[in-house]
Parts: sequence; structure tokens; C-alpha cells
Amino acid sequence: MEHIKLHSFEDLKEYKSKILHSKKHAMPTVLVCGGTPCLAKGSRDVLEAFSLEFTKQGLAYDVAMEVKTTGCQGFCSKGPLVTIADKGIVYMEITPEHVPEIVEKTLIHGELIERLGYRDPLTDRMVAEFDKIPFYAHQKKLVLRDVGRIDPDSIDDYLIHEGYSALCKAFGMNAAEIIDMIEASGLRGRGGGGFSTGRKWRTCSSIESDIRYVICNGDEGDPGAFMDRSIMEGNPHAVIEGMIIGAYAIGSQYGYMYIRDEYPLAVDNMKKAVEVAREYGFLGKNILNSGFDFDIKITRGGRRFCMRRIFRTDEVHRRQGRRATGKIYQIC
Ligand SMILES: Cc1cc2nc3c(=O)[nH]c(=O)nc-3n(C[C@H](O)[C@H](O)[C@H](O)COP(=O)(O)O)c2cc1C
Ligand code: FES
Repeated sequence: MEHIKLHSFEDLKEYKSKILHSKKHAMPTVLVCGGTPCLAKGSRDVLEAFSLEFTKQGLAYDVAMEVKTTGCQGFCSKGPLVTIADKGIVYMEITPEHVPEIVEKTLIHGELIERLGYRDPLTDRMVAEFDKIPFYAHQKKLVLRDVGRIDPDSIDDYLIHEGYSALCKAFGMNAAEIIDMIEASGLRGRGGGGFSTGRKWRTCSSIESDIRYVICNGDEGDPGAFMDRSIMEGNPHAVIEGMIIGAYAIGSQYGYMYIRDEYPLAVDNMKKAVEVAREYGFLGKNILNSGFDFDIKITRGGRRFCMRRIFRTDEVHRRQGRRATGKIYQIC
């Protein structure tokens, strides 16, 4: 992979334009779901089968078509899911044996294979167009908008989907303006209490201290909730970008992510994304020449609440001789 370091907003703009105009970006893309449930049902073999078939048909990567893995595409019980991005088609319960037919009929000849779609239990009709499937038709995704559309391992894919644009906007504002905007937006936490994010940031920034922490709680003990797992697995850079904006707004240089041990894919994807974000210059010293420093450490654990670990983190800072808060305020 090319080693990129972005030193300023201008560098970022130029780099985005380069990837937007690349040949790879213009290629039809097959999205194979790589969320935990689809992986358990064999989606890695499906991905492999697409790569082999593209090579066999002379459509290999970098020639005409691209296949990539995404986070959860939403309909886990019908996995493995395969979405043909530019045609708005989604096929369900796909096995490697279906792949040659999908390539031949749908990708090469533009035909819909209805029997690989979704069986509507009300009408008994097979539907493969994404927006005609009732499960999807009534959804409006905001935070999870790009989960299932982008490759979580590719920062370029995130950048193409407007990634790190909100950060650039935030760097053009002062902290009070950001907090006012977030409060007015009505954005609320996803951790269970639905607490106002703007109010949380305002309270934190008003507490007198020269050290503040941004804690991202990926513990999610509630069985079957998976709202944290989905975003960490499927769009890790969105979590990082949100943490940087929050840190800038409250004046923090230290970010910690606490991810539960039972989410190995979320841990892997977040770790890789943090490393790449640091390499590109979105984390570390003087981010994009803004004068702002911020970095993130990942800690894993489980079966206990996030804050117990964080108390220990503050204790470590104390022992290292750094001036700590003296007290940790958990705001919601
Ligand atoms: C119903 C509910 C369930 C929660 N479950 C957990 C949990 O399993 N693990 C944990 O560390 N914190 C848990 N919390 C605490 C929240 O994660 C914590 O308050 C966090 O700051 C909320 O962040 P948010 O404002 O971004 O949602 C829970 C809170 C509520 C209200
Ligand atoms: S993991 Fe594939 S649809 Fe949820």
C-alpha cells in the first residue's frame, strides 16, 4: 500500500480528488458482506469465489470489476449478502456455487436473478432490488449510513464517501460553535440513555482542568444490541472522526476506546483504522496543520463496565507524573 501522509487541508483535497478520478473508483463493485454473522455463514468463501471468477473471465481486479468486503448490510438472518452497488441489487443466502451465474448474468449481461433475492412473505414474490425490499424500504440510516457500503479496511473508501469532511469543517469553527451546533442538531448517545451529546460536551468543556479524556465506550453489555459492534466493524473511521471532533470541541488530547473482548472483528478493524489514520495524519501532532494534537489508544476487555478501566487509566497518568484531573467526571 502506498504510504500517504497528509499535512494540510489542501493535501487532503488534492488526495481525495486523485482517488475520485481513479479508474478503480469508476469500476462496478460487488459488495460481499463481511459482518460477523455473514462471515460465520461463509462469506469469505464467496469473496474468494468472486476473485477467482473475475480472473477466470478476464475481469480481474484493476481491469473491469472490483469486489470488496463491507460491514453488516443489515439483513443478517439472510446472509451471506451480496450487493451489486451500481445496480441497487441485493442477493441473499449466497454460496460460492452462485458466483459464476451472478458474474455471467448480472454483472456481464445486466440480468436480474430474482430467485437469489428476498422472498416477500406477504406476496410470496422474489424481490432483488434493494429499495423494493420492505425491510430496507422503511429504513433511514444516519449513523450507520455507510456501513454495508464501504470497505472498513480502506480509508480511501471512507474518504470517497465524504469521510473526514466533517473534521475539516469542525477545524474551521471554534469549540463553542461546534458544541452549539451539536446541541441544536439533537444528536444523542447510542449507549442506552440517549443523553444529549451537545450537553455532554458542554459540561465537559466547562469543567476546569488541563487534561480531558474522550472515552469511546464499545462495551455494549446488553445482549443482542450490536449498535456499537456494527459501526466499529463496518465503519471504524467514522468512530475515529467523531472522537477527534469531540476532542477538539472539549479540548482533549487523549482518546481511549474500550472494546469488548467478544468482538474480535471490531477490535481488529478499529486497530487497523487507528494505525492508518495516524499514518495519514488524522491522528497525532498538529492534525492537518490545525495546531491540534490528539491520539487514540485501544483497550479491550469485557463483562465489566467501561468506566472501571478508565479510572485505572487516570491512575496510570498520575503515576507517570502527568497532572491528572484529580477527579474523573463521568458525564452520563
Ligand atoms: C440501558 C443502558 C445500558 C448500558 N449498558 C452498558 C454496558 O453494557 N457497558 C458499559 O460499559 N456501559 C453501559 N451503559 C453506560 C453507557 O454506555 C454510558 O453511560 C455512556 O457514557 C453512554 O454514552 P452515550 O452518551 O454516547 O450513549 C449503559 C447505559 C444504559 C442507560
Ligand atoms: S453481517 Fe451480513 S447482513 Fe449482517
